[in-house]
Amino acid sequence: MSWAAACLLFVMSACQQEEAKPIYSGALWPDNTGVHVNAHGGGVLYHEGTYYWFGENKCDTTSNAMVGVMCYSSDNLTDWTNEGVALSVSDDESSDIVRGCIMERPKVVYNEKTGKFVMWFHLELKGKGYAAARAAVAVSDSPAGPYRLVGSGRVNPGKLPADMTAEARQAMDSLNLADFEKWWTPEWYEAIRKGLFIKRDLEGGQMSRDMTVFVDDDGKAYHIYSSEDNLTLHIAELSDDYLTHTGKYVRLAPAGHNEAPAIFKKDGTYWMITSGCTGWDPNEARMFSASSIWGPWTQHPNPCVGPKSEITFGGQSTYILKVPGKDNAFIFMADVWRPEKPSDARYIWLPIQFKEDGTPYVEWMDQWTLDFFNGK
Ligand code: DGJ
Repeated sequence: MSWAAACLLFVMSACQQEEAKPIYSGALWPDNTGVHVNAHGGGVLYHEGTYYWFGENKCDTTSNAMVGVMCYSSDNLTDWTNEGVALSVSDDESSDIVRGCIMERPKVVYNEKTGKFVMWFHLELKGKGYAAARAAVAVSDSPAGPYRLVGSGRVNPGKLPADMTAEARQAMDSLNLADFEKWWTPEWYEAIRKGLFIKRDLEGGQMSRDMTVFVDDDGKAYHIYSSEDNLTLHIAELSDDYLTHTGKYVRLAPAGHNEAPAIFKKDGTYWMITSGCTGWDPNEARMFSASSIWGPWTQHPNPCVGPKSEITFGGQSTYILKVPGKDNAFIFMADVWRPEKPSDARYIWLPIQFKEDGTPYVEWMDQWTLDFFNGK
């Protein structure tokens, strides 16, 4: 072979290697060992050139945590290496995360000040269904773990929402739980909006189920979770080390039944995509925006476009990944749950697009590559 031909071959093969691989939402996504990625309800951390995908390990027969939180790594968002269990369940029956508990929607963030990786997740105690409604936090010195459980509990005991006026506080104080034994009536909804469940849970702390964590440009982190029996989202500020709550929080869409919060920020506007509350069944996504994390938040129409857009393409939001190094590149991540065989749940990853007025939307694509963000 001539020298020129060899050079051409080399250049061609280099080009081929750089070709971005397609992302097929809903398909099986084999990891480096050929096994479907097992990281559900997850999120992605980008750290020093590597993406780390954390999610719930799900077994074939139960959604309860029999293994723990998984970690996969990648340098291109399409080839994933199984890094193993980042936070393992415990065999100590007295542990909050004993095998058989429920660990959902883990999110990991890096704390610049402490140099630690901090994982928050939704925890339900073994054998108690979804009654505990706790937030749990774990920490590690390295991104893939192992993580050590720091603690778990309800959120911000004794603290009132920061946006509750003295007048609203009075209105809440006058509510009595015993007057609202019948749920779902218009009066009950009105009482929920006024803070009936905030008052009920004030002493022990607010409930925390579906959740995400968001780190703002200034390094401040926020824990966003479904509270008040999944009726109202709370946005709560985390301490500087991200390991506790500061006590400051606001409510978003009181009595609006939002789960599965996923958030991103573009040009100073915060955008949040959520779902309704229909268990493992998909429903229509919702979208909110605000110019301050503390609100006020405005609701927009369903951001999804295309077939099955009325049920989020069969999925439920979990995270929005800002792709580093590219302008306005955000990936909407969702889970297609398979409760009859939880390990077979699938992933939907779609690029977020923007209308001329700047409103985000998510359009179904059978396949796409990251080159989409380069305008290719
Ligand atoms: C919907 C939530 O979004 C999931 O994380 C999980 O908690 C299921 N509900 C349980 O039914």
